[in-house]
Amino acid sequence: MIGTSNRIEVLHGVNLDMLGKRDPEHYGTLTLIELEVRIRHWARDLGLEAAFFHTNNEGEYVERLHKAPEVADALVLNPGAWTHYSYAIRDALEIAHRPAVEVHLSDVDARDEWRRRSVIEGLVLGRVAGKGADGYREALELLARELGVEAPPAA
Ligand code: DQA
Repeated sequence: MIGTSNRIEVLHGVNLDMLGKRDPEHYGTLTLIELEVRIRHWARDLGLEAAFFHTNNEGEYVERLHKAPEVADALVLNPGAWTHYSYAIRDALEIAHRPAVEVHLSDVDARDEWRRRSVIEGLVLGRVAGKGADGYREALELLARELGVEAPPAA
């Protein structure tokens, strides 16, 4: 819709392309493409337009964040393991200056000690972890509220 701030960029980080081959206890069984299909549908239901980006290269993730102000009104980030140590991604997110929600499929607080730390804390509206794919739906709901986007009438 013209004039509506409803573009969501979903940024998948390192190793997320291996979903479907990773430990299903933590990450479920969906592949990244299957996850994206769900996210796209949830987004539409909420009146949002989702676009996706994945890379295993930290510099490319940073460069995508640099472009965010031109292509997105809000961000959903799952930077994978970079979440726990990449100050470069933290700085790039600060530069992007867009409302953002951090998502983790697994319950990062109930796993290894080093996974409890998120370097993007304080820059995100919220963090959803341990809810599997549904966590992305929650993130989209948060952003729809933040952007003031209303869901279209059910088809
Ligand atoms: C993850 C959690 C991270 O600790 C891990 O390194 C990942 C995925 C998640 O979605 O649960 O690669 O971000």
